Amino acid sequence: MNRPDLLIIGGGVIGLSIAWQAARRGLQVQLIERGEVGREAAHAAGGMLAPLAEADCDDPFLRLCRQSRSLYREFSTELLGATGIDVEYRTDGTLFLSLKDEDDEELQSRYNWQNEAGIDIELLTATQILAIEPSLNPAVRWGLRFPDDHQVNNRLLIKALHAAALTAGVDISTRTTVLSLLTDRIANRTRISGVETDRGRFTSSQVVLAAGCWSGQIHPRPQVTPVRGQMMAVEMDSPPLQHVIYSSRGYLVPRRDGSLIGGSTTEIVGYDRRNTPAGMASIIANCVEMMPTFARLSLLETWAGLRPRVDDQLPVLGADPAIDGLFHATGQYRNGILLAPLTGQLLVDLITGETPSFDLTAFSPARLNASTVAG
Ligand code: GLY
Repeated sequence: MNRPDLLIIGGGVIGLSIAWQAARRGLQVQLIERGEVGREAAHAAGGMLAPLAEADCDDPFLRLCRQSRSLYREFSTELLGATGIDVEYRTDGTLFLSLKDEDDEELQSRYNWQNEAGIDIELLTATQILAIEPSLNPAVRWGLRFPDDHQVNNRLLIKALHAAALTAGVDISTRTTVLSLLTDRIANRTRISGVETDRGRFTSSQVVLAAGCWSGQIHPRPQVTPVRGQMMAVEMDSPPLQHVIYSSRGYLVPRRDGSLIGGSTTEIVGYDRRNTPAGMASIIANCVEMMPTFARLSLLETWAGLRPRVDDQLPVLGADPAIDGLFHATGQYRNGILLAPLTGQLLVDLITGETPSFDLTAFSPARLNASTVAG
């Protein structure tokens, strides 16, 4: 591609969603990925589309998450139509269990504010929980059901987005590392002109930085911290779980292929995404607490990924305050899969000069450091 309309740095779920949606809106798109497409955080995720299970107040972040969640049915259907890949979007909901005295306060206050806010949330007794999920710990005390929290198979999602982007004409360069941003100085303004990579120069007047926890290595603002999450999968026996199951300490995600994912850890260990015995031990303990039979199920896989987190734990979405034509789409932290459909839509709106359907002020790159300078 000679000079694309849009150059995207990062072939994770966010970069692919922007690329696909931009190409469908008529832009010539070049995507650059340092490794293989979708092999980092998006591959490691659990696929929960569960903003309500973790929300303690109604704020712009929860509204962003809920708006993106509401796009998922159509997003999945469009991906199926474009690629023939079913991303296993499931609407069974999430169950959040109280298993100890200390869990009660968190669950009760979540129930209270969401119920008062008119959000669909159900308070269930232990008997009701065990009737719908008989594999769970008989010592469960009570719990919450979030019918509007859903899930998707994140690995199929990546496969589908990759195929859809290619079909829509996106040019994807893998194993290509961006070394620096290229800028011009025009009439007292700094403007993006492309990127320098280990495979040569790519030019474009619009660049999106969507490189997850590697974004900060390409541009100094925002600083993005990798936060390791270790995961494991076991082979479920019957009856399979219907819901995603949470406690305050972990989660269980049932998959249609009969596997059951257990997660996770939250560790600041740099760019190390190996598993550790301590990480596995904590996941096993937390999953066994929710479902005692977890301990004897056959182990299928262990893995870990790096969540991209900025200091205030909010996504960074929008135009760079100092470099015209540079846009950020990073810092999704625990919600990259959930936020992918809406992030793609909003970034393409910004890039094409349309008014985004969501007020992005709370997520503006400018909030992180008013004195951002050109890199
Ligand atoms: N989204 C779940 C996690 O980051 O562990």
